[in-house]
Amino acid sequence: MGSLYLDHNATTPVEPRVVAAMMPWFERAGNAASLHELGRRGREAVETARDQVAALLGAAPPEIVFTASGTEANNAVVQTVADTHSDGHLVISAFEHPSILAAAARLEERGFAVSRVAPEPSGRVMPEAVAAQLRRDTRLVCLMLANNEIGSVQPVAEVAALAQARGARVLCDAVQAVGKIPFTVGELGVDYLTIGAHKFYGPLGAAALWIGRGVEFSPLLVGGSHERHRRAGTLNVPAIVGFGAAAALVDEELAAWSDHMLEVRDRFEAGLASIGETRVHAAAVPRLPNTSNVAFLGVDAEALMVRLDLRGFAVSTGSACSSGVVEMSETMKALGVDENEAVASLRISFGKDSTGAGVEALLTALREEVAALRELGAEGASV
Ligand SMILES: Cc1ncc(COP(=O)(O)O)c(C=O)c1O
Repeated sequence: MGSLYLDHNATTPVEPRVVAAMMPWFERAGNAASLHELGRRGREAVETARDQVAALLGAAPPEIVFTASGTEANNAVVQTVADTHSDGHLVISAFEHPSILAAAARLEERGFAVSRVAPEPSGRVMPEAVAAQLRRDTRLVCLMLANNEIGSVQPVAEVAALAQARGARVLCDAVQAVGKIPFTVGELGVDYLTIGAHKFYGPLGAAALWIGRGVEFSPLLVGGSHERHRRAGTLNVPAIVGFGAAAALVDEELAAWSDHMLEVRDRFEAGLASIGETRVHAAAVPRLPNTSNVAFLGVDAEALMVRLDLRGFAVSTGSACSSGVVEMSETMKALGVDENEAVASLRISFGKDSTGAGVEALLTALREEVAALRELGAEGASV
C-alpha cells in the first residue's frame, strides 16, 4: 500500500522512528506546565523538540512557538496585523494557502486593504510584481516558499528584502517545503515562518511559528502563560516530541530523500509521454522534487481520481466540477489556467518511500483509465 499513497502534500504517514519516539509520551501522564517530576520531564522533552525544530530552521530555540497546525500559525501572524495596527495594507500572493487567503480576507472586511499578486503562468511570483504593490502603509507581505498544488518554489529572499526595505514585515509559509528542499530562516531573511509536522513524516497536531527577534506578535490563543505568553494551551507533548524527532530526521536525511523523490518523479513524468496530451504545471520553474501536477487534457480529473482510488492509488485534484459548475482551486485561478485544463488536473505528490515499481503501476493505471475516460468523453460528444 505504501507505494500507492501518492498524496504526500496532503499529509504524510508518520515515520516508524517518529512513532517510537512518541510512544512513551502517550503512556506517561505529565502536563509540561506542572511543577512535579513528571511535568518537568515533559517540559524537558518539549525543550529538546524545540531545539530540534530550531536546528532544522537555523533558528534560536526561544524563537519557536509550538502551535496545533500550520493553519493556526498562519492565522496568528495575519491576525497580529489587526491587533497591532488600526489600519493599513497587506500584500499576499494570490495562491497562498487558504489559511492565509481567508485570514487576509477577514482583515479586508475590517477595513484593511489587501493586494493579491498573481503568479506568472509559469507558477512563480515575480519579485517586481510584489514590489509594485508595496505602499508606505504595507504592514505584511505573505509569500509561501512552495505552492502546495503545483510545487513551484517562490523567490522569498528577494521579496523579503524588497518588502523590508519599505518597512513591511514578511511571513513565509514554508509548510510544504520542509522535508523536500533545504532552507534556513537566515537565508530567507523573513520575519515570520510557519511549518507543520504532518507534512514531513511527523504527527498531526504539532506545528510551529518562528518569529524573528524583536518582531511584534499578538497571540491568537490567550489564557495560560505557555510558550512565553505567545500561545496559551496545554502543550501536546507526544505530538511535539514527534515533531522534534521528524525535524531531526529531515536534518540528517533530506539530501537522500529529495534525490530519491526527484528520481521517482522524473521517471513518472518521462512515462507521461505514453499517455499523450498531458501538461505538467510549473515544469519550467524551480519546483519541489516530489510534486507533479498534471493536466490530462480532455479528462475529468475527479473521475480519474475516483477510478485510481478504486485501484488503490491515493492522489488528489485541486479543482472540481459539480452539477456542471467548475469550482477552480485558487491556485489554478491565480495561474490563469483555463477551466478545461483545471478540471483535468491531478496532483501526484511522491514521498521518501515511493518506489519505481509504484510509479510503473501508476503509469499503467493512468494509461488505462485516461484512455477509458477519453473514450467515454468522445462517445458523449458524439451523442
Ligand atoms: C502551504 C500550506 N500552508 C498551510 C497549510 C496548513 O497546514 P495544517 O494542515 O497544519 O493546518 C498547508 C496544508 O495543506 C499547506 O499546504
